[in-house]
Amino acid sequence: MSSLLVDNIGELVTNGAGEGPLGIRRDAAVLVEEGRVAWVGPSAYAPAADRRLDAGGAAVLPGFVDSHAHLVFAGDRATEFAARMAGQPYTGGGIRTTVGATRAATDNELRATVRRLRGEALRQGTTTMEIKSGYGLTVADEARSLRIAAESSTETTFLGAHVVPAEYADRPDDYVSLVCGPMLGAATPYAKWVDVFCERGAFDVDHARAILACGQAAGLGVRIHANQLGPGAGVRLGVELDAASVDHCTHLGDADVDALAGTAHSDGSGTRTVATLLPGAEFSTRSPYPDARRLLDAGVTVALATDCNPGSSYTSSMPFCVALAVREMRMTPAEAVWAATAGGARALRRDDIGVLTPGARADLVVLDAPSYLHLAYRPGVPLIRQVMRNGVTP
Ligand code: NIG
Ligand code: FE
Repeated sequence: MSSLLVDNIGELVTNGAGEGPLGIRRDAAVLVEEGRVAWVGPSAYAPAADRRLDAGGAAVLPGFVDSHAHLVFAGDRATEFAARMAGQPYTGGGIRTTVGATRAATDNELRATVRRLRGEALRQGTTTMEIKSGYGLTVADEARSLRIAAESSTETTFLGAHVVPAEYADRPDDYVSLVCGPMLGAATPYAKWVDVFCERGAFDVDHARAILACGQAAGLGVRIHANQLGPGAGVRLGVELDAASVDHCTHLGDADVDALAGTAHSDGSGTRTVATLLPGAEFSTRSPYPDARRLLDAGVTVALATDCNPGSSYTSSMPFCVALAVREMRMTPAEAVWAATAGGARALRRDDIGVLTPGARADLVVLDAPSYLHLAYRPGVPLIRQVMRNGVTP
């Protein structure tokens, strides 16, 4: 068994025991054995190991957990972005453009895009990335999207209910039956989660409930795209169905915030249903940002994710999302970094990632900076010096 000691860490974010909400330790070291964190403590008292990585006084934090991404698609929608920046609103209508391109692509073309984006994210410190289907929208195309997604992640999500495809435009009930029946059956072997885009122009709350309940009955965990483009009952539906996460949360009423707050664990460790905020989408659609402070002040557990997709948020960068959350959503740098690591883990109901405590997976990032603060303080700067996943450099 080979061990590795990462030592001379100026500032270690553990998200466990330590100073403040990030569990910070200074002049620290992390011992890695068999891909797991075996010990965390002062660098001066570090145990011997077979190999050593000198962090040179830099900051080290858990790898980012990006709990919301749509990577299986073909083509891009740069012209749609340009039109938006010239004043066009975002409606989600461009999803069908990507569906057409995705259906026309070969498996290898889709695979290459997933790998390219997954690699891009990894170089920016993302060690876990959820990947959704949702641009196939036929039984075969959703199944292959998830099969390809599963080659790059264990956190795969069936989003057959992304929009009603054009060929079902005048019979949405039939499409919902297809999603709940043969499509779900073909998706289940490759999916861990089920998701629905619950929004005007996509699926209403009754259709969303039906689809999520079918997915749940088939053994999938629930997540939902809700309250992105306007108010609605999607967030409350997520709470009703014990969703791990309700995502977007841009337009919330008091009843939505109260419903999320009502899922609080009795031990004070936050809420069972996480609000995942996706500031890349507001950036790229030039929309008002979600009110993170209101959620945090109500005790709701908040995660940050990229929503990486060719329409509303074509970024794979968690550092960018952290910077946006701090600057535009009034999250403190500590809240944003927690939300991008431990928060993402909570949104995936995982306790083995997003933390650097004994027993956790040795997924970590060495920054080219002395503090996690620099992630928001130095936006757009490539601060990820080294990434480790399962204790090895990928
Ligand atoms: O999360 N909201 C729905 N789905 C994506 C956008 C997809 C697209 O525009 O292609 C999102 O923002
Ligand atoms: Fe999304």
